Amino acid sequence: MDKELVIKYEEYDLAALPDAGGRELMQRAVEAADGAYAPYSHFHVGAALRLGDGTVVCGNNQENAAYPSGLCAERTAVFAASAQRPGMRNYEALAIVGRNERGELCEASPCGACRQVLMEYEQRQGHPMRVLCYLSGDRVRVFPSVASLLPFSFDF
Ligand code: THU
Repeated sequence: MDKELVIKYEEYDLAALPDAGGRELMQRAVEAADGAYAPYSHFHVGAALRLGDGTVVCGNNQENAAYPSGLCAERTAVFAASAQRPGMRNYEALAIVGRNERGELCEASPCGACRQVLMEYEQRQGHPMRVLCYLSGDRVRVFPSVASLLPFSFDF
């Protein structure tokens, strides 16, 4: 029997994001992208994670000559938050943006490995973490949770 999966998300102009904190968070992600170390891909990614107390922890991609040793912006951000604030169980929202070789802001959608990692922090905190992905043309795609980005996820 065929079954269907529906993924619900929202899209807005950046300036019209209903959550004012979302605009600020995306701005922090844009600034974080400037700190990326991406001499191999030349694709700079910034991520900004808002914690329950309003603190923002940022990350960016860190590459390495031994390619798989590098890390994406999203994991850099959540690992930094978890390392620095071990008791914090409230990751409210994560904003992500890319900057290409021409210096233009562009879409950065979390890779599979990042989705898996984000998912575990979401499960641990027991409530959703919103994911805001920048889209070219100053648009933003808002996912209500990490679970919505990773159906049928692995767990044991
Ligand atoms: N990258 C991220 O940091 N986040 C994403 O969502 C997609 C990809 C990084 C990994 C690598 O340093 C570069 O972008 C090109 O794949």
